[in-house]
Amino acid sequence: MDLAIDKILESDHREIDVILERLDEAFERGIVADIHFLTDYFWARLAMHIRAEHLHLFPAVLDAVGSKAGNAVSISRPTLAHAEEVLIILRSEHNFFMDELADVMKRLRRIVRLRDPVPAVGLPLIRTQIGRVVETLASHNAVEESEVYIWVEEMVSNAKKAKLKTEIARELKNIPPRFDSSNLQ
Ligand SMILES: [Fe+2]
Ligand SMILES: [Fe+2]
Repeated sequence: MDLAIDKILESDHREIDVILERLDEAFERGIVADIHFLTDYFWARLAMHIRAEHLHLFPAVLDAVGSKAGNAVSISRPTLAHAEEVLIILRSEHNFFMDELADVMKRLRRIVRLRDPVPAVGLPLIRTQIGRVVETLASHNAVEESEVYIWVEEMVSNAKKAKLKTEIARELKNIPPRFDSSNLQ
């Protein structure tokens, strides 16, 4: 199936949401190994998604919004100042997600290493920290889906879109080798 760029990225958002639902269940059951694995997987998948946006999508958006030629049929064309402002916020949220999750992983590795039988203090704090990421991610994804992804579809030329789609697809497949596909069922 040949999906458009906005649909590819939206479906990646949904797949990451499913990982978060599984992570929530792991916290409910309090199984440290599952919490550790699913947090690591969430972090990796979000990092891949962010790389696709940082390196490829956002520059293409700025290029299209800034170009005078533009696409005559665009009905959602933002001003360059608005697009820049939105992208600055989205980029800083990406940095927040990656910083927080790197910190969470450090704490989780410590719990796993200590084989703490009752990680009662650590886990609720970690869950709260992940909760803050998840909350911001929901509004972040909503802004991307209601604005940025639409700009891409409406304003980037078809030739550039084809290249952009290949670049994004490559990032979204670039999963770290530690994730064996057999672990991900
Ligand atoms: Fe994003
Ligand atoms: Fe996104």
